[in-house]
Amino acid sequence: MISQDSIQQILSRIDIVEIVGSFIKLKKRGANYLGLCPFHNEKTPSFTVSPAKEIYKCFGCGRSGNSIGFLMEAEKYSYVEALRWLAAKYNVEIEESETSPEYKLQQQAADSLYIINSFAQKYFTEALLNSEEGQDIALSYLKERGFREEIITKFQLGYNSEAKDGFTKAALAAQYSLAYLQKTGLVNVRDDNAYDNYRGRIIFPIHNQSGKVLGFGARIIKKNDKAPKYINSPENEIYVKSKLLYGSYFARQAIDKADECLLVEGYTDVVSLHQAGIENVVASGGTSLTPDQLRLIKKYTNNLTIIYDGDSAGIKAALRGLDLALEESLNVKLVLIPDGEDPDSYVNKVGSAEFISFVNQNKKDFILFQLGIALKDAGNDNTKKSIVVNQIAETISKINKTEDFTKQQDYIKQCSEILKIEESGLHALVNKFIREKVNKDETRVSRDQKFAEENIGTKQHPVIDQDVTALFNKDESHEQAMIRSLLEFGLKDWTDEQKVADYMFKEIEENQLEELIDNKELIQILHTYKAWYEAGIEPTAKNFLYHENLSMSSLVVSIMDFNYEISTNWKTHFEGHIATREELFAEEVFSTLNYLKLRKIKRLIDENQRDLEKSTVAEDQMLLVQTHQHLKQMEIELTRQLGTVIFR
Ligand code: GTP
Ligand code: MN
Repeated sequence: MISQDSIQQILSRIDIVEIVGSFIKLKKRGANYLGLCPFHNEKTPSFTVSPAKEIYKCFGCGRSGNSIGFLMEAEKYSYVEALRWLAAKYNVEIEESETSPEYKLQQQAADSLYIINSFAQKYFTEALLNSEEGQDIALSYLKERGFREEIITKFQLGYNSEAKDGFTKAALAAQYSLAYLQKTGLVNVRDDNAYDNYRGRIIFPIHNQSGKVLGFGARIIKKNDKAPKYINSPENEIYVKSKLLYGSYFARQAIDKADECLLVEGYTDVVSLHQAGIENVVASGGTSLTPDQLRLIKKYTNNLTIIYDGDSAGIKAALRGLDLALEESLNVKLVLIPDGEDPDSYVNKVGSAEFISFVNQNKKDFILFQLGIALKDAGNDNTKKSIVVNQIAETISKINKTEDFTKQQDYIKQCSEILKIEESGLHALVNKFIREKVNKDETRVSRDQKFAEENIGTKQHPVIDQDVTALFNKDESHEQAMIRSLLEFGLKDWTDEQKVADYMFKEIEENQLEELIDNKELIQILHTYKAWYEAGIEPTAKNFLYHENLSMSSLVVSIMDFNYEISTNWKTHFEGHIATREELFAEEVFSTLNYLKLRKIKRLIDENQRDLEKSTVAEDQMLLVQTHQHLKQMEIELTRQLGTVIFR
């Protein structure tokens, strides 16, 4: 963890115009800067940067955030990576702070595993290149298959002897703990005896994005029907199969440059293609792609080309995860390598130029390919065919981003031609799936909401329809307005002794306004503000913008007002003086609080009304009527202050 002190130092030096300006060209426009949005294609600039608020917002695609968010989006950094980038840019030395004991333990475990893996990788490489057994059995095998020494060194390939416990002994002698050795999967223990797990195998180290060894794949050399061909590291703190792609460390730059990622099945495919100069290639190990792996690819490119051998059982597995790729707007193509070959053997056979031209000439669209396979399977069976139509409609419905609309239309056209059905029919079916998905998402949201509320212990709202949601939004804009007043004006003087924040907190408490705020995230902002304020930390909007809780920081961005700077600029076009929000802050604070109070009174009036309808006791009714009149009086007073009209 980077210490709070370092973070503050970094944040104090941030200049958003400079940071964004190093990625896109910005022009000054009034108080803001304007440029072409780097996140979507546009010809007229709608990407706005506010140096005063230190945020950016694109009025075209709606993306917004702070400098850190910008770096995370533009460079695909994590929060911490973005901080480190900024630290390097502004020459801030980063100091690591104390972290929670669990996190520390986890870090220690991860560090130990990395250290052991690094030791093991060196041991295995040494054994491959410099031991007699390694040279005779393994190196000769690799050379026979066409792997040259540079590529073996580059990928840090290795070998472990057939002997029982050579590695285990070396590792224990070097003081590595047996428990961690077992965790890495390099050592097994049976009947109190520790022995090597990978024996007589070629070792493929698997690297993370920064080149550290996460684990290993170990391929058997001698034919053996009983033993599996490959053994991989077991899942542990650092080896998480669903999050890694073999070769990504060596491929990242080439993928970026080619704007395409090739995906193959095996370790040897990756290494051979590299040797042939085709470096934008990673392997999945023959299983279907996980969301994390797709995300890893999407960091570098939107174009994924899957290259599998034609008779591979892996094809279907590979296709399985791919509806998800569509939702992520990845363009997926498929290339099948001819009979009996895999990418490794094929590139060795035909050479790299021919391999590349084969790939380029045989890229099939993955949706159309899937349709082809399914239709072939269905044959003349009409029931099966209609299942195929349904499946393809569902797949097409996943392309549901506005920017891909034309793509979706194209698919509907092409697929209906292949299927020999009416285009309009397929169209209707696709729309049905889109609608169903929307419905499902909504149920999920309301279920999550219910869960959240039950856990927070508040009342659950009745199920809401569209019109009611719109009403809620109106209420919510009042909630937001109040939080915005607090964020923007909280540190201004209200009276001689009181800041705006003091006044607002007092009002909120006395009138129990917090319970009127429906949006939990706004409440969270309120609480964070209060906690900071009381602890003497300045709860400026800026501190929120850089809060590690990204959903909170983006909410703050979205409720901050961009326009009022434009309106100051406006002033110059008018004779005389137009007051800015800044100047009228007291009025704004007052009225945002009053709106919430008014809402509260309206609710009390409704409640009172309901009690009155239920009540049968004369005395109670009297009291309720009095309460009603009293509340009405308050409502009228508040409304008068707000200068709005009541309708009932
Ligand atoms: P070579 O036969 O040496 O060329 O390797 P290959 O990569 O071509 O092997 P294959 O096509 O049989 O398998 C493709 C990938 O699937 C491998 O690289 C492994 O990642 C994985 N794989 C294959 N066999 C096994 C196995 O027995 N166990 C596990 N866990 N993975 C395997
Ligand atoms: Mn192979």
